[in-house]
Amino acid sequence: MSLLIDNIGLLYTGDPEREELTGAAVVIQDERIAWVGEPGKAPETDERHDAEGRAVIPGFVDSHAHLVFAGDRTAEFNARMSGQSYTAGGIRTTVAATRAASEEALGTRMRALVEEMRAQGTTTVEIKSGYGLTVDDEARALRLARQVTEETTYLGAHVVPQGIEADDYVRLVTGDMLAACAPYAKWVDVFCERGAFDGDQTREILTAGTKAGLLPRVHANQLTQGPGVRIAVELGAASADHCTHLSDADVEALASSNTVATLLPGAEFSTRSPYPDARRLIDAGATVAIATDCNPGSSFTSSMAFCIALAVREMRMTPLEAIRAATYGGARALRRDDIGMIRAGNRADLVVLDAPSYVHLAYRPGVPMIRRVFSS
Ligand code: NIG
Ligand code: FE
Repeated sequence: MSLLIDNIGLLYTGDPEREELTGAAVVIQDERIAWVGEPGKAPETDERHDAEGRAVIPGFVDSHAHLVFAGDRTAEFNARMSGQSYTAGGIRTTVAATRAASEEALGTRMRALVEEMRAQGTTTVEIKSGYGLTVDDEARALRLARQVTEETTYLGAHVVPQGIEADDYVRLVTGDMLAACAPYAKWVDVFCERGAFDGDQTREILTAGTKAGLLPRVHANQLTQGPGVRIAVELGAASADHCTHLSDADVEALASSNTVATLLPGAEFSTRSPYPDARRLIDAGATVAIATDCNPGSSFTSSMAFCIALAVREMRMTPLEAIRAATYGGARALRRDDIGMIRAGNRADLVVLDAPSYVHLAYRPGVPMIRRVFSS
């Protein structure tokens, strides 16, 4: 099947050679982008979609989400909105609910969230484990995640669960749990934070994961200025996520590496915390991604458009930098060259917006703006 999309208002390709085009057309064929250019020169296709002057963008790449869980944390959110602060400890509430849930219930919830994301323009999502924290529960989460994405992340090191000493738990995470989870995971992640895992533990867990064939990424510097970012860069992680509390040395380390700084403004919104400073990172030369961090505790949004609006309003990003971070940035954070950009050869993941330009994603916050999603 081949399809011509023409009459496009503003086409944001993400391709640095020609990042924004007006009056362009796109041809997709058999799940790939076959051609981008002037409408008159398009190859013959079976079908046509008239964009009627609407903008077209690459499908969003949400490179950080926790979608395998049960229950919710409304009470905790309510308490925070009355002045309580966020701590890593809340994770254990979701762990208890998740362990108690059936595989079917977890799968149904996860699929509903993936569908909710897709309807909002997200065509690639990364999914982490991290609410099981036993060998069987972590493996179950990753088995489920694998059914809907190849971007699966082993996050046995989310927090130390109740009833086990930290040293014993790190042994489990780097031993039996890793062995059970590695077949279903591409990535290994650690929540490196006060109240979760310290620098030495983080290094040990990521190194063990790497030896088992997984690629590292880190929850780094979310609540405090810890060692997470430095370790991420040192180990060549694809991404350091959150990056809210950064020293000048952290910014410098990110800028001179190919570790992406993935910013998760939904978390600052939902925890009433100060936002990360994207401007500082971009000006230093770091690659920035934006993702939702969708999870029941710190950021229960599935909307990349909402995160873009926050990034523009609260993190000193321009609309162009924000759309780039939500597409190309996410692809870099997952080390993918076949998504996040509309160029020949890439996957046919693109979104027609109900607006003439991607700028409207931030300009009209909270307004539904996804007209049509093409997903390979
Ligand atoms: O990315 N920071 C650690 N993990 C999640 C929060 C999980 C939770 O509170 O349930 C995050 O924000
Ligand atoms: Fe997270």
